[in-house]
This record gives sequence, structure tokens and C-alpha cells, in this order.
Amino acid sequence: MSTGTKIIAIDCEVAKNIITNDDLTKILDTSDEWISTRTGIKKRRVLSGDETSADLAIRAAKKVIKRANYKGDEFDMIIAASSAPEEIYPSVACRVQAEIGAKKAACFDVKAACAGFIYALSTAQAFIKSGLYKNILIVATDATTKFTDWEDRSVCVLFGDGAGSAIVRADENNDDIIGINLLSDGTCGDYITLTTQGKNCPLVEGIQNEVKPFIQMKGKDVYKFVMQEIPPKLEELMDTTNKKVEDIDYFIPHQSNQRMIDALAQRLEIEESKVISNIEHYGNMSAASIPVAIREAIDNKEMKLPAIAMLSAFGAGMTAGNAIIKLDENV
Ligand SMILES: CC(C)(COP(=O)(O)OP(=O)(O)OC[C@H]1O[C@@H](n2cnc3c(N)ncnc32)[C@H](O)[C@@H]1OP(=O)(O)O)[C@@H](O)C(=O)NCCC(=O)NCCS
Repeated sequence: MSTGTKIIAIDCEVAKNIITNDDLTKILDTSDEWISTRTGIKKRRVLSGDETSADLAIRAAKKVIKRANYKGDEFDMIIAASSAPEEIYPSVACRVQAEIGAKKAACFDVKAACAGFIYALSTAQAFIKSGLYKNILIVATDATTKFTDWEDRSVCVLFGDGAGSAIVRADENNDDIIGINLLSDGTCGDYITLTTQGKNCPLVEGIQNEVKPFIQMKGKDVYKFVMQEIPPKLEELMDTTNKKVEDIDYFIPHQSNQRMIDALAQRLEIEESKVISNIEHYGNMSAASIPVAIREAIDNKEMKLPAIAMLSAFGAGMTAGNAIIKLDENV
């Protein structure tokens, strides 16, 4: 049997500033009624001043390290799921490494947008199974509100800023990752885009079409993609892991839109009481959504441990990742 992956602890950090739907009516032609009924979002957290998504990741990392009673130099790898960092390099993982003193860790970022946490978990599991790495810190962070056009009401109302963190460890006797499947479809790449642009060498032709570094989204196409592609992948995951819907204690989907969360749960016939949602308070925090939802649901006693949880995330790429995991009492 290959080495199992134990989930030691999960934690999170969200941006401090709270912006309500009513606040947004001061800068946009929108209403609390439109945003609430179409998305379920009431407020979101946004970064201010010089704070970055790496700062959030560092705080989330320090919290999970404290929770698990780890030391920075115990990690041999740090994986950051971060798709819109303020710095292209150094990586967010390297920024975290420097702050927690993880001298021995190999550090890199994975870019899978809102599905980033699941991609990072899957990458960590693969390194652990290979036997090459044993103690891995995952951070999932995005400050999407810095890359939204605050004049584009169909996009900017959806997002918030936060970070999640998790520690996973090689374990010969336990495997908390019951199954994971990943899906990518680059042919749908234009559904959600965020473009950065450099400047050409002055000796060659200059850039003709300057782009603004803002998220562009085809909301209806995203919605259709999720409803078409995600349920069969979740069913496939349950099949390959021999789990039935009744075996799943909690369904923790990416917090993108309450209507999507409800529709997915309905399609899979998952009872409402098993569905974890905090979108009302935070909006879509991209890669951070799932770990933040897990930490909060545990702290609020909405989730009772030990539990088997099914996670499902999807986002730009298009990318999607689903996982069935065990969460024990100490997470
Ligand atoms: C974004 C989303 C809520 C928009 O809902 P929708 O029903 O598709 O709405 P539409 O884009 O068709 O817009 C309907 C109308 O509302 C208007 N509208 C858009 N945003 C608005 C807002 N914030 N406030 C008020 N009106 C708004 C549009 O301008 C449009 O007006 P019109 O009919 O006069 O042209 C929905 O498509 C969605 O949730 N998609 C998934 C997006 C997502 O989750 N992305 C991240 C995945 S990781």
C-alpha cells in the first residue's frame, strides 16, 4: 500500500474590511435585492492599502502552524494555490516560506483559479505517495477584488478576499484523502479571463491593444459549464471510492453563487442540512473558499467531526477539482 495522506489541520484568514451590498449601491447601479436573489451574497471582505494576498496567506499559514503545533523548519514543501497574486514572482509559497522559517521546504505555486485548493491537495498527495516529501503546507489565497473592474457590476459584486491553509503529512496507517478527481477544459478558457501585459522591446513593434488587468467573465457560460460538468464528475468520484450520497456527511462546494450551490446539491440529491455555505458573508474567495468554509463550519459547530466531506471546486481555465476527504476531530 502506498503512503497515506493525513490532514493534520485547516485554518484561514479573511480580509478585514466588510463591504455590504448596500455599500456597493454608492458606486454602482445595483441593489441588495438583485445581488442577494441572484447570488446569495450579502457582504464580502476586501483588502485595503498595501495588503496583499501573500500577507493573507502568511497569516493563514501562521494560524495553521500554531493550531497543529508545528515548526516552520518541519515542512519539506509549501504549495500555494494562488492565481492572481500581486507579484508574478517570487511565488506566494516563497513569501510564506520566508515568514515562517521553513528553510528546508521546496516552494511553488499552482494556478488553477477557484479550484486551486483541490489541485494543491492533489499535488501534495502525489508528492506524499511518491515517498519524496512528508510534511506539506498548503496555502490557498486570492485577492480577487484587486483585479475586478469596480464599474463592471456583473463581476465585482461576486468576489471577496481570503486565504485558507492546511497541513498534510505522510502517514503509513491513515489516508484522509479517500479520492480526488480533476478536470480541465482549456477550450472554455474565455469564460473567465484575467490578462496581464508587459511591454515589448522598443526595437520591435509595440503592443497594439492594451489590456486592463481586470477579470472578464461570461457568467451564463460559467453557470452552464458547472451544471453540465460537475455532477457527473462527483458521481464518478463516489463510484470510484465506493461511496454513496448517504455516506457523505457534508458537501462543501466552492462558494461561487448560492443558486449554483443549491442546484448542485439538488442534482446530486444531497440533503440541505449537509450543504455547507458561507457565501452570504464572504462572496467568492476563489481558492480560499473551501478551506475557509471548512474552518468556519467546524468553529460554528455547523459541522460535527469526525466526518466525511465531499469538496467540489471550479473556476477559470476552466478547471474543476472534487475530493472526498476524512476530517478528524483535531482538524
Ligand atoms: C453573474 C450572474 C449572477 C449573473 O446572473 P444572470 O442571471 O446571468 O444575469 P445577466 O448577466 O444575464 O444579467 C441580467 C441583467 O442584470 C443586470 N445586472 C448584472 N449585474 C447586476 C448587478 N450587480 N446589479 C443589478 N443588475 C445587474 C445585467 O446588466 C442585465 O441587465 P439587462 O437585462 O438590462 O441587460 C450569473 O451568471 C452567475 O452567477 N454566473 C456564474 C458566475 C460565477 O460564479 N463565476 C465564478 C465561478 S468561479
